[in-house]
Amino acid sequence: MVDLFDVSGKIAVVTGGGGILCSEMAIALATRGVKVAILDINEKEAKAVADRITAEGGEAIAIATNVLDKASLERARDLVIGNYGTVDILINGAGGNKPEATASDSMSFFDIPADAIQWVFNLNIIGTVLPTQVFGKIMAERGEGVIINMSSMAAFKPLTRTVAYSAAKAAVSNFTQWMAVHFSQNYSTNIRVNALAPGFFLTNQNYYLLVDKETGEPTDRGRQIIGHTPMGKYGTPEDLIGTLLWLVSDASSFVNGVVVPVDGAFSAFSGV
Ligand SMILES: NC(=O)c1ccc[n+]([C@@H]2O[C@H](COP(=O)([O-])OP(=O)(O)OC[C@H]3O[C@@H](n4cnc5c(N)ncnc54)[C@H](O)[C@@H]3O)[C@@H](O)[C@H]2O)c1
Repeated sequence: MVDLFDVSGKIAVVTGGGGILCSEMAIALATRGVKVAILDINEKEAKAVADRITAEGGEAIAIATNVLDKASLERARDLVIGNYGTVDILINGAGGNKPEATASDSMSFFDIPADAIQWVFNLNIIGTVLPTQVFGKIMAERGEGVIINMSSMAAFKPLTRTVAYSAAKAAVSNFTQWMAVHFSQNYSTNIRVNALAPGFFLTNQNYYLLVDKETGEPTDRGRQIIGHTPMGKYGTPEDLIGTLLWLVSDASSFVNGVVVPVDGAFSAFSGV
């Protein structure tokens, strides 16, 4: 029987691969025989993930890379090609938010600095477009490849307070659709672009919003989120893996240009 989910022997590039969600993805791919290049601005974290993979018998390299700098991405591409020969899978995982771009009691929407909004837009959308240009070009030349972007619940309906992040992730979802059509119409129908839209996972980017740093108790927002997640809990990084393996493998060969919620039914719930 052909294993539709078999990805062994593939080469993957994971941006933000030193982070919480994408390190788990990199490890999951490596466990299934994928050679993984971990690209992250935080070289120490990237190296820790690559070292863990190689210690467990997998193949991985860490490459210090800034997804906002095309020259940095091109250097990373040359290293990936030099080490592994090509790229089959690109995961655009680098992304995030920061308090300065978030409306709050101490930061009125009217006072949010433009440079904070710009920072969030750059990281999430430019940081997805530039790696797609650099690594997607190899896929266009070969006529095959798979790209996974990281969208968010905030893209479907904006979340209160996270004004820049919601808009930037909406752009990531839109870009996912645009790119899927562009590759199919101009290069190859064997290049697919899809996105994951994680629900709520407790990580560095949202911890300050969801957990009271003094008491360690959930904030009102944290309680609201759990109350609006019919499955009644936060996701864990492992919860993304099944959907990731489906989207990067032939199991999803006719799935293109979609944004898949992995959210414990958050996006299905009207609140009533
Ligand atoms: N945590 C959640 O609940 C959640 C929900 C929806 C979507 N997401 C998205 O999933 C992705 C991963 O999120 P996470 O929670 O694991 O975040 P994380 O902060 O743990 O990981 C992000 C990684 O990106 C790296 N990075 C930041 N700027 C970079 C740059 N300029 N160049 C290269 N690397 C850079 C960071 O060093 C970090 O390792 C992000 O796109 C995030 O927006 C997260």
